Amino acid sequence: MSAVDDRKPGGAPASTAASVVLERCDELATYTSLPGGLIERVYLSPQHAAVNSRTGQWMRAAGLTTWQDSAGNQCARLEGHRAGLPALLLASHLDTVPSAGRYDGILGVLIALAVAERINAGVAPADRPVALEVLAFGDEEGTRFGTTLLGSRAVAGTWDPDWWSLEDADGVTLHDAYLAFGLDPATVGDAARAPVELVGYLEAHIEQGPVLDEAGLPLGVVTSIAGARRFQIVVEGAAGHSGTPWARRRDALAGASEAVLAIERIARGEAGHSSGLIATVGHLAVFPDAVNVIAGRVEFSLDLRGEFDDARDAAWLGIKAAMTAMSERRGLRVTWQQTHSAPAAHCSERMRRVVAAGIRATERAGADPAAPPELFSMAGHDAMALAAVTEIGMLFVRCAGGVSHHPDESVTEADIARAVDALEASVLELFEQYRSEPGVEGTAS
Ligand code: GLV
Ligand code: MN
Ligand code: MN
Repeated sequence: MSAVDDRKPGGAPASTAASVVLERCDELATYTSLPGGLIERVYLSPQHAAVNSRTGQWMRAAGLTTWQDSAGNQCARLEGHRAGLPALLLASHLDTVPSAGRYDGILGVLIALAVAERINAGVAPADRPVALEVLAFGDEEGTRFGTTLLGSRAVAGTWDPDWWSLEDADGVTLHDAYLAFGLDPATVGDAARAPVELVGYLEAHIEQGPVLDEAGLPLGVVTSIAGARRFQIVVEGAAGHSGTPWARRRDALAGASEAVLAIERIARGEAGHSSGLIATVGHLAVFPDAVNVIAGRVEFSLDLRGEFDDARDAAWLGIKAAMTAMSERRGLRVTWQQTHSAPAAHCSERMRRVVAAGIRATERAGADPAAPPELFSMAGHDAMALAAVTEIGMLFVRCAGGVSHHPDESVTEADIARAVDALEASVLELFEQYRSEPGVEGTAS
C-alpha cells in the first residue's frame, strides 16, 4: 500500500477520505455550548447527545451496527468472519476543553470511522479474523466533573462509585447528570468490556506537541503516555479591609501565589536537570474577589504529570511540604483533595511495531526507510484507560506548531490522508497477525 496510490481497493480515494474527515470535524465543531464560534462540549450535555446522534448516523452509513453504551459513549461494530468474535477497538473522544480546537479527540474518532468504512468495503467478512469497533468516548477531558477519562474508564471497567457525587459548576452531581441524559447510573457497569472480548486498542490523535512539526514529519508512533494527578487546593486566610497593616494580614492570595511558584520550581527540577515533569495551575478562584478586600480564600487546581510515576509522586511530596511551610509562615491553612490519578501507560511492543508498520506503508516507494519517529505523550489519552484491559497503541498526527487546547489547532488534509492510510495499514497488519494467532477465536459473548 502507498499513499501515492490514490484509490484503495474497494474504498474511497485517500484524498476523499481525508476531506470527509475534515468536513466532519468542521461540522462537529458547530455542536457547542459557547457563542461566537468557540467550542465547548462537555460530558452528558445536549451537545454531547447531538454529536453522538450525528456520529451514529455516519457510523451506520459506513455499514456498522451502532449503539450508545450505558456510559454515554457512541459505539459501532463491524463483525468479523462470524458474529461475536473479540474486537479490535479504534477510538478517541468527542468531548472538549473550554475554547477548544476542533481536532483533539474528534479527529481520532473520525479517522477510526474512515478506516472501518474502508475495511467494510475492502475486506470480505471471511477475511476478517476479529471484529472491529469504533468508539467515541463521551468524556476524556474531565471539563465538567473535574475527573478525566470517564467514558473510557467505564469501558475499561475501572469506574469508581465515589465519582457519583462529583458536582459540576452548577452543583449538578454526576449521578443526576446521568439521569438527565437518560442514562441509568445503576447500569454503568454494563459499558465495561472484559479482556476476553478485546484483542487490542488503537487510537489516532493529534500530537499536541511540536516534535513532529519541528521534524517536518506527518506521523509518529507513541511509546507511552504521561500519568497525571490532579488536585483541588484551598488556601484559607482572613478576609479584611485592604488597609489592614502588614503584621495583621493573613492574605490567602499572596500565599497561593507563593504556592504556585513553588509548584513550578519543584516540577521543573534542578537547573540543568530536566525532571521530565510538567505542572499546570490552570484555574484559580479568589474570594471574596474585590479590589479593596484581602483575599480570605483561594481555590486553585494543579495538574501534575510526567513520564515516570515515581518522579511525579516525589514532586507532589515536595509541593505538599512547600505549601505546608508557606502556610505556617503566613498563618494560613492549606488543604487539598486529589480529583484524578492515572498511572503512566505504555504502548505494547506489538502495537508500537504495528503502528510503525502502518506508517511505513504510507511512504512512497523508494523513500528513505528511516524508522518512524517514536514519541512520548505528555497529554493524556483514552488509551491510558483501556490499557487496564487490553494492549494499546497510538498514532500521532502532526498539528501545526504543536498548538492544542486552543481554537488555533490545525492539521493538513495531506497529513490526514496519510493518517487514514497508516491506521488502515496497521489494522490490516493486525488482521494478518490474528489470522495465525491461537486464542483469538475466543468468543466475546
Ligand atoms: C487531556 O487532553 C489532558 O492531557 O489532560
Ligand atoms: Mn484528546
Ligand atoms: Mn485534550
